[in-house]
Amino acid sequence: MSELKSNVFVRYVQAEDREDWVRLWRKFIATYENPKLADGIEKVNFDRFIDPSVKMWSALAILKDETTGTEKAIGFTDFFTHPSTWQTEDKTYLNDLFVDDEFRVGGVGRKLIEFVYSEADKMGTPAVYWNTDHFNHRAQLLYTKVAYLSHKRIYKREGY
Ligand SMILES: CC(C)(COP(=O)(O)OP(=O)(O)OC[C@H]1O[C@@H](n2cnc3c(N)ncnc32)[C@H](O)[C@@H]1OP(=O)(O)O)[C@@H](O)C(=O)NCCC(=O)NCCS
Repeated sequence: MSELKSNVFVRYVQAEDREDWVRLWRKFIATYENPKLADGIEKVNFDRFIDPSVKMWSALAILKDETTGTEKAIGFTDFFTHPSTWQTEDKTYLNDLFVDDEFRVGGVGRKLIEFVYSEADKMGTPAVYWNTDHFNHRAQLLYTKVAYLSHKRIYKREGY
């Protein structure tokens, strides 16, 4: 599996990646029971990623076949920055993370998080955070290695 990691790189999505991003997004959403998604959200999301005036981005993990030179998108992460009353610089929220089933436990998820860390550092918004379901043990096997577990709980307004 370490072989997989060395053939994978992460880069921001470009306009021509829409189909690949949607394909992976749908697989990601399929991992949730009854996700509450707005109508047309796929288009809205991707339009935001490629709009330089919106501080929301997506990056793809690309597997490169060294012999044929072909490239395949096998994972993605979406993130955005926002202000905080507790610090002068913006924070970075890692909204989505996904690696296609057959490529998991090969270091790709870690690479995607490290990409967000590195871009957040460059933007001057190094405080990266995210949340996960308490029962998502698989994701947490990775998260405990790249982050610390906050003691905060998330409350939500009823109906949202
Ligand atoms: C969560 C997810 C992105 C992780 O991607 P991944 O490519 O498998 O992650 P990685 O291979 O980089 O990291 C997995 C880590 O967990 C560890 N791990 C995996 N299975 C393990 C096991 N059974 N026992 C111990 N450690 C294990 C690996 O050793 C690895 O750590 P390392 O980097 O130190 O080697 C992927 O499982 C996924 O897409 N899941 C479905 C969507 C999802 O849940 N997304 C997160 C929503 S918050």
